Amino acid sequence: MPPSDSQSRVAVLLATQEDGVRFAALERASGEVFRQLDDLAWIADDDVMEEADHRPHILAGTVWVARNEDAGVVGFLTAQEVGSALHVWQMAVHPSHQRRGLGRALLRAAAAHAREAGLSTLTLTTFLDVPWNEPFYVGLGFTRFPDDALDARLREVLEHEARAGLPRERRCALWMDPRAMGG
Ligand SMILES: CC(C)(COP(=O)(O)OP(=O)(O)OC[C@H]1O[C@@H](n2cnc3c(N)ncnc32)[C@H](O)[C@@H]1OP(=O)(O)O)[C@@H](O)C(=O)NCCC(=O)NCCS
Repeated sequence: MPPSDSQSRVAVLLATQEDGVRFAALERASGEVFRQLDDLAWIADDDVMEEADHRPHILAGTVWVARNEDAGVVGFLTAQEVGSALHVWQMAVHPSHQRRGLGRALLRAAAAHAREAGLSTLTLTTFLDVPWNEPFYVGLGFTRFPDDALDARLREVLEHEARAGLPRERRCALWMDPRAMGG
């Protein structure tokens, strides 16, 4: 990734299939932030979504990128419409651009789409108590589903993640009304 200075402009746009080619490397790089945590450092070396996993969602118009005018794509959010929900499967921001508001901007783009599509909720699953995961989303207005209030879809997402090796006791599902997110 070419260097970019902190003043370079970043736009949030719908993703193209060409953008999707870079997502796996971008997600891998973004995960380096987990090395700060002794018990979850291994997440930095865990599997990532493959290019093919993003393709149908890009085609459906539910994937957004943060594009830096110098460095190109520095972040993405991949989501899917499921019933009345927009489910966020993954989001990642390159370490060179983390903590500049791009994660928030990508979520705002997803929320705007959900509102325009008449969807009633944004949902996602994430790590509990990791500063850039659950607390970050709660700060934006997301609420945690108590485990006994999970619907079948989200319970299956969490169980699938557990079968893939993520520690179930550290994971949670969150939701928010997209109309409650500004921007
Ligand atoms: C989650 C992620 C996409 C957020 O992207 P971002 O562009 O850094 O997000 P923002 O700048 O909008 O907000 C980040 C907020 O998260 C928290 N945060 C992020 N990184 C943090 C860190 N290293 N330590 C403490 N808090 C952190 C802070 O609250 C921060 O807000 P602040 O900078 O105003 O204090 C990014 O951290 C990332 O790619 N992480 C690795 C992959 C991942 O965890 N994806 C989410 C899967 S559910």
